Amino acid sequence: MDSDAWDARYGDADLVWGSEPNQFVREQCQSIPVGVAVDLGCGEGRNALWLARLGWKVTGIDYSNVAIERARALTERERPGVALRLSWRTADVTAVQLRAESVDLALVSYVHLPPEQRASLMLRAALAVRALGHVIVVGHDRRNLREGVGGPQDERLLYDPAELRALFAGIPRSRVDLAETVQRHTAEGVALDTLIRVRRLV
Ligand SMILES: C[S@@+](CC[C@H](N)C(=O)[O-])C[C@H]1O[C@@H](n2cnc3c(N)ncnc32)[C@H](O)[C@@H]1O
Repeated sequence: MDSDAWDARYGDADLVWGSEPNQFVREQCQSIPVGVAVDLGCGEGRNALWLARLGWKVTGIDYSNVAIERARALTERERPGVALRLSWRTADVTAVQLRAESVDLALVSYVHLPPEQRASLMLRAALAVRALGHVIVVGHDRRNLREGVGGPQDERLLYDPAELRALFAGIPRSRVDLAETVQRHTAEGVALDTLIRVRRLV
């Protein structure tokens, strides 16, 4: 889907992914010391808003203008202290410049790209994280095609824990702490997601 298609999807409904953070984002991030985060492909900002409420300073980036405008509107409803910690940017995450070692957390939640763009995004996300910070990736797992419900039906766009483990392991000063397929219970049945947690080392 391109940005126009995402604009149309967000234009059709409010809070397409709900107002709560993704369950795996919550589990993984709630115990990380707060700092500076970037949410790549943030959508309407459910994860970024939650992180900001915890004390994180967050930049959400998405190429859907409609999603970013909705995230801005949601930010206005937050307490001033929370709103001040949030910034939003309309940009293509496959092309946006991410400053090296500028954040403590890079989050990629359900952003599905072709293999080359995926690998490039993961590399740039990791390099944007400073020492002792984390990269958290969650997305529909390749096994979901045959064993789960929902999500993209194009196998090339789906995540594979072993593939991402190998990719991150090849990035200097990066340690893969978690790379697995996890179950997410939905109204339609069980969906299989890939969950990755990478620590940047000193
Ligand atoms: C399934 S939604 C997930 C949104 C959000 N991360 C969440 O978990 O609620 C995927 C998002 O990725 C965004 N996206 C996909 N490709 C992108 C790209 N190349 N640059 C920026 N955003 C992109 C879409 O606009 C959409 O908002």
